[in-house]
Amino acid sequence: MDRNLALEVVRVTEMAAIAAARTMGRGDVRDSDQAAVDAMRKTFDTLNIDGTVVIGEGERDEAPMLFIGERVGRGTTSAAPVDLALDPLEGTNLCAFGRPGAIAVVALAARGHLLNAPDTYMDKIAVGPGAKGAIDLSRSATWNLEQIAQALKRSVSELTVVITERERHVELVKEVRATGARVKLIDDGDVAAAISTCFEASGVDVLLGTGGAPEGVISAAGLRCVDGDFQGRLRFRNAEEEARARAMGISDLSKIYTAEELARGEVMFAATGVTSSDFLKGVRFFARGCETHSIVMRSRTGTVRFVTATHHFDKKPM
Ligand code: FBP
Repeated sequence: MDRNLALEVVRVTEMAAIAAARTMGRGDVRDSDQAAVDAMRKTFDTLNIDGTVVIGEGERDEAPMLFIGERVGRGTTSAAPVDLALDPLEGTNLCAFGRPGAIAVVALAARGHLLNAPDTYMDKIAVGPGAKGAIDLSRSATWNLEQIAQALKRSVSELTVVITERERHVELVKEVRATGARVKLIDDGDVAAAISTCFEASGVDVLLGTGGAPEGVISAAGLRCVDGDFQGRLRFRNAEEEARARAMGISDLSKIYTAEELARGEVMFAATGVTSSDFLKGVRFFARGCETHSIVMRSRTGTVRFVTATHHFDKKPM
């Protein structure tokens, strides 16, 4: 894949983030999502890629979406055929209610290299490079935290574990607290949380818990770029979800997927902060413009770029 692709794709996440940020705090979830989707779709049309959305917004939250199977990009004959896993506004509620951690995000890989995950839940564990190889989703949270602490040469009580605050996580939170580890509860946004495990400055070491499967694929792609580690296991709420997964070609419904199985080969990842998170600042507006903060990464080289961009609305109306 052309290495400049990642730097092109950041334009898409920037535009989605700016559009979403304009709606921040209005309390209108649909409006925030729609703004991000429209801006992302429109900006894709300016890029010379032949992209197919394989992970889109999904059906679970019935949000307006960049449909799975939708082709994006100008798609000229010289365009690279790529698959895209995207979320124009990951953490819709966070943006709509002005809370931290909302991002616009796109991961891309060569055609056929991203798992076409059904829109169901996924049990997840994510860690940064220091704990790569130390995780096993088939084991308990306690076992994993002991291994991670050992790998990071710290005590378990010095680990910070991010968990989405949900009823389904009550027992998990109890177990993690019993190990002595510090728990950081978040409202939403487990992609940003997973990626933040790779940056020491974030103060976050582990993501644990169950979230969206599509978000799991996006997280795995991001973590692969920075040599972090991720495992995920699909979790179905009913027979219909199981049937849909089978129809999508998934035969082993309890399989534990590694990051490499979710996002194979060379992958690229770009995300822009909508509201500030542990590793990205959100959009800041000023007179006739705004500033965005993005991260752009490639698995082939492991290069991580933090891109601060100033956008001038009088030169580039948006
Ligand atoms: P949206 O951006 O689609 O609102 O997803 C936010 C999110 O918190 C994800 O980060 C997470 O994987 C998923 O929702 C958790 O799902 P649920 O809200 O159903 O617990």
